[in-house]
Parts: sequence; C-alpha cells; structure tokens
Amino acid sequence: MCRIFAAILKGGKASPILTAGLKRLEYGGYDSAGIATIHNGRLFVKKDAGKINEVDRRLDFGSLPGSLGIAHNRWATHGAPVQVNAHPHTDCKGSVAVVHNGIIENFAELKKELLDKGHHFISKTDTEVVAHLVEEYLLQGISFRDACLHASRRLEGSYALAVISTVEPSRIMLLRKDSPLLLGLSDEGNFASSDAVAFIDHTQDAVPLDSGEMAELTSSAYSVFRTADGKAVLKKPIRLEWTLEEASKEGFPHFMLKEIFEQSRSLHYALNLQKPYLELMAELLDRSKTVYLVAAGTSYHSCVAASYIYSELAALTAIPVVASEFVEQYGRSVNVDSTVLLVSQSGETADVLRAAEYVKAKAATVLGITNVLGSTLTRVTRAYLLQQSGPELGVAATKTYASQLLTHMQLALYLGKKRGKLSQSEVDYYLDAFKKTPELVEQALREHDERMKKLARKYLSRKHFFFLARGLNTATALEARLKLSEIACTPSTALPAGESKHGPISLVEKGVPAVFIAPDDGTNKLMEGNIMEMKARGAEAIILGARDDEKLRRLSDEYVALPPDIPGILTPIVYVVPLQLFAYHMAVEKGLDPDKPRNLAKSVTVL
Ligand code: AGP
Repeated sequence: MCRIFAAILKGGKASPILTAGLKRLEYGGYDSAGIATIHNGRLFVKKDAGKINEVDRRLDFGSLPGSLGIAHNRWATHGAPVQVNAHPHTDCKGSVAVVHNGIIENFAELKKELLDKGHHFISKTDTEVVAHLVEEYLLQGISFRDACLHASRRLEGSYALAVISTVEPSRIMLLRKDSPLLLGLSDEGNFASSDAVAFIDHTQDAVPLDSGEMAELTSSAYSVFRTADGKAVLKKPIRLEWTLEEASKEGFPHFMLKEIFEQSRSLHYALNLQKPYLELMAELLDRSKTVYLVAAGTSYHSCVAASYIYSELAALTAIPVVASEFVEQYGRSVNVDSTVLLVSQSGETADVLRAAEYVKAKAATVLGITNVLGSTLTRVTRAYLLQQSGPELGVAATKTYASQLLTHMQLALYLGKKRGKLSQSEVDYYLDAFKKTPELVEQALREHDERMKKLARKYLSRKHFFFLARGLNTATALEARLKLSEIACTPSTALPAGESKHGPISLVEKGVPAVFIAPDDGTNKLMEGNIMEMKARGAEAIILGARDDEKLRRLSDEYVALPPDIPGILTPIVYVVPLQLFAYHMAVEKGLDPDKPRNLAKSVTVL
C-alpha cells in the first residue's frame, strides 16, 4: 500500500527528514517515491519510479529547499509505476502538490469535469484530480483550508491526503477517509504520516485522525475539523510507547528475523493486558448468542486456533470467519444478539473494517484485538484489547501472531471463569501455563534456528510442501503454509490431517516433504496413522513432536524435538516458531528479501 509523510519545521530543510521517513516506510511495499517542498513561494518536486535509495541517488532528494514538504511511497493502483504517475502530483500552475494513500473511486468523472474546465492532466492516476480540484476552488478566492474541505467533499473512496500550496506556504492540509493518518507533534516542528514509524525518532506525541476528519498543520500548532461540516474537533495527543530503536533491526539482517526472535519479549508484554478491558470484553462475549471471530491472513489463523480455545476454556462457540467473506457468509444471520470480535494487527485491514461497518449497522456488538494504538479498529469497536507486540515492520506477521494467540487465551480464561466453566485450580493452572510461554518460545528459538536453516537448505529445491496437524494446531499448519508461500514463494498445502484421505493425498509422490505438527497433546496418536499413509506414498516426514516421543521420532525422516508436556493450549505458540524460521531461511536461501515479499504489503487497506 502507499505511504504518505509530511513535515513542517520551525527552521531548516524538511527534505532530509522526509527522505529518512520514506526509508522507514519502505516495508509497506512500493514501486515509486517522491518529495515536494515549498521555498520562497516556489514549489519543488522530485519523483521517479524505483526504490528510494535508487531514486535518491539519481535525484538527490536532500537538495530540495524549504522547511515544509510532503513525501510518498507509491504502490500502483491506477497507472503504471512510471515517473509521471509517481506522487506528489501537482495542479496546472504548479502551485498545489498532493500525496495520497487510498483509491478515489469517482476520479474518472471528476477528471472529465476538470478537463472540460480546461485543466490539463499529466498522469494516469486517480490522485491527480485532487490537485486540480483544490486549484479550482482556490481560483474562487477561498482559503487553502476551505479549498481542501470543498475538494474532499467531492471525493468518493478512501484517502489519506497531504496537500501543500504556494498560496498559503506556511501550512499543510491533511485529510483522512478510511486510510490511516496521524499527526506527530514536536518542538522542532510537526509531522503527519500513514504510520508513526516515519516520525517516531522526532516525537512520540501523536494525534490519530479519524475517518472524515481534516487537520491544518503549522510548524507549531494543529487544528482538526470534520470534513462534512467544517466543525472544529478537539483531539488530544496520545503518547506512543515505541522508540525508533525498537523499530530498527537491532543487528538482525531482516525485520522478520528480528521479530521472530522478539517473540519471547513481546509475549511478556501480552501477559500484561489491561484487566478492565479483559473483564469488559469477557462480559460482552458472555451475553452473546452468536460469536464470530473475523480477520484476514495470519490474524485469521489466530482465530482458527482461538475457536478451539474458547470452546476448551469457556464452552463458547466462536466461529472463525475470513473477513472478506463475512458479510456474504453470515451477514443475514447477524443481529443485536451477535458479537463480532475483529482481529487485526494493523487495525487498518479494509476487509475487517468493512465487516465492522456492516455489523454496527445491525446493532451487533463489535469488539477488537489489535496491535496499533490509534488505529481505525480501535475507534470502530465498542471495546478492544491492545496485544502490545511492539511495531512489526516485516510484512510477514510473526510476533504479532503469538501475541494474538496469547490474548485470545487470556480472554477465554476470563470468560471461562465468569461462566463457571473452570475451577480455581484450573484457572491457576492456565495462568501458570501462560507465564511459561516466553521461556518456551525462547528455548525453541535457541534450539532450532540453525536446524531450520539446515532443513531449508536440504529441501530448497522441493516444489511443494504439505503441512498437516490435528486439533488447534490445524491453525499452526495453516500459518506455516502462509509463511512459506508468502515469504519463500514455495507452493504448499495445509489441512487437518484427517482430511488428507479426502483428496489432497493424491498430490503425494516420492520426495514430497510432509510436515507434521504432532505435539503430545493427545492428537499425536491419530497423527501416526496419517504419517504412515503419507510415507507409504513416498512422502518425506518432517515431524515436529515432543522430545521424548520415540515412536514419532522413529517414523520421521527429520525430527524436530520440542519440550515435552507443554500444555496443549500453548502448543500453537511454541510449535509455530521452528516453522517461521524454516520459511525465513528458505526465503534467504532462495535469495529473496523476507522483508519485502513479492506482490505483498504489510497492511491491505483497500478492498
Ligand atoms: C501475514 O504474514 C500477512 N502479512 C497477511 O496475511 C496479514 O496477516 C493480513 O493481511 C492481516 O493483516 P492485519 O492483521 O493487519 O489485519
């Protein structure tokens, strides 16, 4: 997805800060980069297709003069990734510049209207219409702020916009509808960005904007308005707990590996959820007739595991649903007695937010689990839990998956206790088990990183993998497959082991690696039969099991031993670690960049 970044300083050049910020926003996935600044009443623009370092080497972003500017990483949605389509985009006279994240759905009709008024367009993008719309309103002699307000009311679709103009060169206008956008406030000047990581080394004081809001930013102040009626909105800053160091790689070659190794630390944070919210959410879940767990990608896999966990600990039926299918699949069933628990690391996934909008209109209760304070999900839910994983910049979700699982477990425990489904000794047992997760994960990291690198090399040339499991580790199989496919581009199949005979086993032939996730949680006995079936057809069995499970070890071609007697409910958190490492090393061995996987972005903010 695109990322925007804006800066307005009390003194000095904005371009070096804007360039550094764009580099930190790279994880979002992009194909072009550009910066515009204003100096002595003139607009300066440098932009091109390519990675930031390449474009910066060619154009020298830092030479742009002026203490205010806007910057952009473009992920092409309308118009090929070529120089003319890169942002910032300008108006006819070169007095207005705009950067945008989102999609202007009615740009074609707006473009026709503006062309009929004599405007000339350079790009094929939807965004360029915004610059000409603002220009059109400025021609009417109204203020820059009102010109932006009026322009925003003509736009349909989603947008995070930053707009500057030589007409009023001491302010930046920020407009938000759906796409994330927040302000950063500091003594040296003020910032705005799609993601706080762009300015977090300058300030941790942020003001998230809500959808339908606009901010006017100067180097020393900000004001927020509703775009619908222009009314002022009072927004207090929040304190972001992340520092740039946390968001840096801390010596690891990639964010993904850093974040895999960060899991024991982030699980500690996840053990300190805000109790009043756990209580409130358990209360709201308890009152529900039907509970849906709605998410996408890895977050959906945490919901698959959670469906077993809520049943096990609280005798609650919680239905995991892929966010993009929710409205079509269950829309008509949702009513005032329904509760929808949205799970989204970024809190900005468009499919999840679409589901939220739909169920709110049905008067259902909307709850949330997210990692990003100030994200849209935190503002569309009645109550939410922050999973507290810290910033996750690798496109692949790793540490946030573990935190989501632990968050679900704690919520399920609160609910089970409230419903009288658990004795005090059972509650104490689980609480004690949860406290063990950081150390169990730390041990898995210590013992398996080198081994998984070796296995990645051994199986580097294999064309297709199977991942099979039973019980709540079906989610682990799904997640391992997603990691291997999205990061190492290796096709694979994941399924409940009991399903293999219903079709997928026809894919098995000599040398196909089949990964079995078989902890000693009672499912491993049934897994033995599945392992033998696959081996009989030539599969090579890579088995993850308890260190003392000699029977499985004998059946395996490769045995990955994990600590015995891990409480069954914790096994998805521990058993996924070697499989995350396997996907990471497979990608590196293939010469791919695990932090910038092909065709993917960290947060899918368009439907
Ligand atoms: C996971 O590795 C992927 N990057 C992707 O599937 C991700 O989990 C999905 O897009 C959901 O993102 P969210 O948790 O921010 O909503």
